[in-house]
Amino acid sequence: MIDSNFTFCYDKVNTAAIAVSMEVETLEEKEISQAVIGRLPRYFRYLGELKDQGVERISSQDLSELMKVTASQIRQDFNNFGGFGQQGYGYNVEYLYREIGRILGLDRQHNFIIIGAGNLGRALGNYLNFERRGFIFRGMFDQNPELIGMEVRGVRIMAMEEMEDFIRENDIDIAVLTIPKTSAVSVAERLVKTGIRAIWNFAHVDLNVPEGIEVENVHLSDSLMKLSYNIRRERVKETEETK
Ligand code: NAI
Repeated sequence: MIDSNFTFCYDKVNTAAIAVSMEVETLEEKEISQAVIGRLPRYFRYLGELKDQGVERISSQDLSELMKVTASQIRQDFNNFGGFGQQGYGYNVEYLYREIGRILGLDRQHNFIIIGAGNLGRALGNYLNFERRGFIFRGMFDQNPELIGMEVRGVRIMAMEEMEDFIRENDIDIAVLTIPKTSAVSVAERLVKTGIRAIWNFAHVDLNVPEGIEVENVHLSDSLMKLSYNIRRERVKETEETK
């Protein structure tokens, strides 16, 4: 269990005490379930909006109504990190936003490259909001010679042969894979050798990477299928009601 010591350690990260920061990361890894971590970005998003609206404090009850999750779920989630503030009196929005951002590693800049300058790769490259979160689009790579030298939002598309050197020289920690699944595995193997930290994989294939490299697989169609299920469920309900 993480108790108030955690908050204490965490505060020290502010002063850039690297040893303490490492301790915090170890604590997080050991104690916090992926389910909780998976919910943090949504809290972060809502808190960001509240902050932009000038809201200073919010109770778990009000946050629960806004986010349509139970207040007890919110309290349980936040208790993993020492609670983040007094219950009853409510949470300080700015503080909570900052702390969750820090836990998510958003207080640091992440440089990323996109491999595959097709429809999806270009759409992601053109998305400005990643920068707002500290994800900086640095380079783009493709095997198609006709695309080399073109630019996406001021970022040059380079040949695949340049990829390894570029990663090492530009402190790249995330590679976004928007190439067909047939080539994703071999490109991932090349990425692993560069010492990249993480792969955001859009290719429809599971990547086996060594420990220490994070892979997040994104399947937009999963979300679409969920939507389809809910449409179907509503239809069934309507049909039953008209019987
Ligand atoms: P696209 O055909 O427009 O672009 C693919 C690009 O990758 C092309 O420019 C091609 O030259 C390049 N490429 C192919 N092999 C390469 C290699 N070995 N090294 C470097 N570049 C290479 O395709 P689109 O629509 O952009 O989709 C890209 C991939 O993402 C596809 O595999 C698609 O199935 C997948 N996708 C996944 C989604 C998801 O939710 N996970 C959603 C949409 C697409």
